[in-house]
Amino acid sequence: MSLEAIIHGTFIDAPTPRSLRVRENVFVIVRDGVIQQISSDEGGIREEFLGLRVVKFEGARVLVPGLVDLHVHAPQFKQLGTKTDIPLMEWLQKYTFPAESAFSSPSHASKIYPKLLSHLLKNGTTTVVLYGSNHLVATKILAEECDKAGVRAFVGKTCADMLTPEYYVESTEGSLRDTEEFVRWCLQKWGVGGRVRPVVTPRFIPTCSKELLKGLGDIAQNYDCFVQSHAAESVDEEALVESQHPGKRDVEIYQESGLLGDKTILAHCCRLKDSEAGVMEKVGATVVSCPWSNILFARATVPIPYYNSAFPDLKIGLGTDIAGGFGTMLDNMRTAILQDRIDSFAAVDRSAVSTDPDIKKENWTVDFKYAFHLATASGAKALGMGDMIGTFEEGMRFDALLLDFGLDGDDGENGRAMRFTRFGDESVEELFEKWVTTGDDRNVVRVWVDGVEVL
Ligand code: GUN
Ligand code: FE
Repeated sequence: MSLEAIIHGTFIDAPTPRSLRVRENVFVIVRDGVIQQISSDEGGIREEFLGLRVVKFEGARVLVPGLVDLHVHAPQFKQLGTKTDIPLMEWLQKYTFPAESAFSSPSHASKIYPKLLSHLLKNGTTTVVLYGSNHLVATKILAEECDKAGVRAFVGKTCADMLTPEYYVESTEGSLRDTEEFVRWCLQKWGVGGRVRPVVTPRFIPTCSKELLKGLGDIAQNYDCFVQSHAAESVDEEALVESQHPGKRDVEIYQESGLLGDKTILAHCCRLKDSEAGVMEKVGATVVSCPWSNILFARATVPIPYYNSAFPDLKIGLGTDIAGGFGTMLDNMRTAILQDRIDSFAAVDRSAVSTDPDIKKENWTVDFKYAFHLATASGAKALGMGDMIGTFEEGMRFDALLLDFGLDGDDGENGRAMRFTRFGDESVEELFEKWVTTGDDRNVVRVWVDGVEVL
């Protein structure tokens, strides 16, 4: 049931990379899934809401926007935390294609996908962009499970008509037919702009023929859909693309295929050239940094502050890349902080990829505020939902987490001891910083999407 209440408590959000907004003791009125009013004093609450019950969240508890994970491979969930010991291309062949092909069984999908969604929600992810497997039926099950779980989801049937083992590869026509059917089915079920939306999903350039890419581009344009894929991930992926399309690179190929626009989400982008970042900025496409996975597989980082300064309109968000990365969104926020330091102490020379000698890396650091902004407001903007989720403003949807920081080292609301010790004299901002840097799912005690409690 959707929350109808005056919530009295502390609300924290990060509208920009540098601004953490801490509003203590405010009254937030939620009805029909929407934040109707935010009032700093009780007397300011509009008359029409005065009859609503007041829900008070006192003590070391705060409300924050739900996290936005822009890149998850749903059929890899079972192997999360294992099998990350070999390079990307070998990893796909040896572990990942076999794991994904098991989703030809609908009962396997019905068994695994609900577990993924509860993992995401309990770790604070309320919006997720998902790759399914190559299978239509299993991907429909994934979308239905997202709906049941109450998560906000973008779901794609993965497409691959080449360089994929025989037991998992699709025909070009079959891949296009199943994609179109999936898109139509989602739009019919949840409508345009529904809580569950379809995404056109070419796996990545090496597993997609030109014909498939072009056909997927047509579908994306005909149905005005989001597109997700991988780009400029690693040295071996880059070499493979060069061998298939001499002289061409991922971004250009997506663009030629009609797959690059303001609804395009490209994961990794570790080896993007400045000219490509410029193209993505111009068309409104999104870079998804998956810091944990990037370090493990791509052995690379995404220079987020550099992009924010050199390409101010380039959309950037964070992804876990389950299961290439085994971290949660919190882990990836921390890794975004760490990868920024790695760039600094390794003196990563961005001029190596820069075509513009005037573009200099500005020395501004990714801190807990910046990382939190990336995981919330910035991710929401990437999905065209910057005025809907990711911060707390009147008129926006109530997608929120209640965080409990524990009582002086004692148990929190959910009865479990917290990971970090609270001494009792910290400011709210310090406690929040501790959550970003050292907290975990034990601090996430309630989760709402569209005002509905979903955890
Ligand atoms: N490139 C193509 N497929 C994948 C995948 O499953 N994970 C990652 N990290 N990169 C990919
Ligand atoms: Fe990926």
